Amino acid sequence: MKNIYLNIYKPNRTNLIKAKKNIENNNVIGIPTETVYGLAGNAYSNKSIKKIFTLKKRPYYNPLIIHFSNLKKLRKDVVLNNTFLKLYKAFCPGPITFILKKNPKSEISDMATARKNTVAVRFPKHKVVRKLLSLLNVPLAAPSANISSRLSPTSSNDVADEFKNKIKFILDGGRSRIGLESTIIDLTTSPKILRHGFITPEKISKILKTKIEINKRVKKIKSPGQLKLHYSPGIPVRIGMQIPKKSDAVIGFGKRFKTKKNHFNLSKNGNLNEAANSLYRTLRKIKNNGFKSIIVNKIPNLGIGIAINDRLKKASNK
Ligand code: TXA
Ligand code: MG
Repeated sequence: MKNIYLNIYKPNRTNLIKAKKNIENNNVIGIPTETVYGLAGNAYSNKSIKKIFTLKKRPYYNPLIIHFSNLKKLRKDVVLNNTFLKLYKAFCPGPITFILKKNPKSEISDMATARKNTVAVRFPKHKVVRKLLSLLNVPLAAPSANISSRLSPTSSNDVADEFKNKIKFILDGGRSRIGLESTIIDLTTSPKILRHGFITPEKISKILKTKIEINKRVKKIKSPGQLKLHYSPGIPVRIGMQIPKKSDAVIGFGKRFKTKKNHFNLSKNGNLNEAANSLYRTLRKIKNNGFKSIIVNKIPNLGIGIAINDRLKKASNK
């Protein structure tokens, strides 16, 4: 299918140079990663960070993830520790984000870190963003490329749909392989998972040889009406077996989930990685097909299934 969007660019050499120039001029661009697409800007520039917050309609107290290509340039911006180095060796580049202490000498924009003394750092694996990072002298601040509280995009078309011509440049990197945001682990105290993802607590425990804490505390809503919903497809999501109305779509998983017109199977083979990969795409499709609400049947709460259920629970405002 031919691309209908004029702001989507193939990731060839010429366009990677264009992307680099955009970042150096403090413009904001769409980038592919293996988890979801990001809205990227120069992490050292308040000007580009401000553009990111404005475009996303993101509250300023919610800090951004800073993307690096490797360890080399990291020391200037954050304080490294042994736990981090072990996990870096095991999983990076890859779908995991670390919260570390900010180096007082760091050049990272105070706005990007919401004036905290910590920084979220990630080393994405996707070839295209790695190439871009290697051309740049600055790290990339990049939240998921969606309007705040909505679904994360997993293709360049999703990004273009979300922001229309408000962003001028999106690098195409195909469909995101994982399709769910990175695991976030706080390493400023004893390791604690802040967001579930492809790298599960079990995998992390194996490397660190300790049990990993999971942050169960529900985030306080800092101002009324904000951040109540997360990962929302824009229509109500309900979890559990219910009798669907005609205007309801039903999401299920595995061989036993019946094939009907309004039924959407995240993985007919019962493969959780495939289900994670098709989750946001399916939610978008359902919304675009005009359904009025979504009923979700249970997905096994194992491995990446925990991250899938976490997103669905938040999308249902529970
Ligand atoms: O997979 C991903 O992580 C994607 C791709 C683009 O890299 N990015 C992403 O960014 O999901 P975003 O902004 O949608 O989610 C970042 C999360 C937010 O919930 C934010 O509160 C948290 O990371 N975060 C950022 N800095 C933090 C910090 N210093 N301490 C605690 N949480 C932090
Ligand atoms: Mg996000």
